[in-house]
Amino acid sequence: MTAYHHIPVMADEVIEYLNPTPGKVFADGTLGGGGHSSLLLERMGGEGMLYGIDRDHAAIAAASERLKNHPNKTIIHGNFHDINALLPEGVLLDGGLIDLGVSSHQLDTPERGFSYHEDAPLDMRMDQSQGITAKDYLNTVAEKDFAQALYAYSDERWATRIAKKLIEMRKEKPLQTTFDLVRVVDAAIPKAVRAKDTGHPARRTFQAVRIVVNEELDPLSRALEHWVVRLKPGGRLCVITFHSIEDRIVKQAFARMKNPCICPPKAPVCTCGKKPYGKVLGGGAIKPTKKEIEINSRSQSAKMRVVERI
Ligand SMILES: C[S@@+](CC[C@H](N)C(=O)[O-])C[C@H]1O[C@@H](n2cnc3c(N)ncnc32)[C@H](O)[C@@H]1O
Repeated sequence: MTAYHHIPVMADEVIEYLNPTPGKVFADGTLGGGGHSSLLLERMGGEGMLYGIDRDHAAIAAASERLKNHPNKTIIHGNFHDINALLPEGVLLDGGLIDLGVSSHQLDTPERGFSYHEDAPLDMRMDQSQGITAKDYLNTVAEKDFAQALYAYSDERWATRIAKKLIEMRKEKPLQTTFDLVRVVDAAIPKAVRAKDTGHPARRTFQAVRIVVNEELDPLSRALEHWVVRLKPGGRLCVITFHSIEDRIVKQAFARMKNPCICPPKAPVCTCGKKPYGKVLGGGAIKPTKKEIEINSRSQSAKMRVVERI
């Protein structure tokens, strides 16, 4: 098994906003290797409780080992979207953290199928104990559904051509590996366009497939509401995203917490009765420092948004 390696992104900013001190209660919805959680636990001095959740068994194993000397933690295998079922009833949090996306460990373990740099079976499931693999999805998805997913989850401008090529190529031979998917993208995007692309031409397609396979975005907005409702008044939720589609969902969800009123805009008084329950901190998206980006290039596209429970 590949050794677990992941540098926690925007760690200073997370510590600043969550302000961990002894006795507080936190939940980390994306535990990964326990990088952020270990920083929180160090400052909690053995008092209080940290609930660490991840849907990936490899992450759970790595974090359990890393955090083994901290008695005040509970590690839970599950999907953070299900926070209400995962946390004990009645527990309210001083802070929550959601650090979205894949870990460096998932990307750097070829057999997980997340990377377009290595030829490996097309899996891409974060939780390998359930759900359909990227291979099953790609060999069965309808052309128009795939094109739609590419638009919606990665802003891929060659979506229709890639979807058409997928159907053509899988008729010849069903897709098996990550390089089969790279070949579909290569065949769909004109060579001159690919040559001008500063990143890997398949990166957007891989992102979209990963989002579909792991059902990452559709339940996110609702999940954020559940998390904020689990905070004590004054408790804070930090959410770190790595692409604009994810960030937009977080931004809009936080805006609705600040102003949940659904009365018609011209109504003289509010009759829906929905009251604000979240206050946005930090003036919007908080970005990593130049120094952090120099040290950890994976932090480059990170944005953190923070909401405080009213
Ligand atoms: C960017 S990494 C987190 C790294 C972690 N903050 C650290 O410092 O080590 C994202 C992690 O979140 C997990 N994950 C992503 N979506 C999830 C979900 N809906 N529920 C639970 N875990 C999820 C992934 O399996 C991965 O381990």
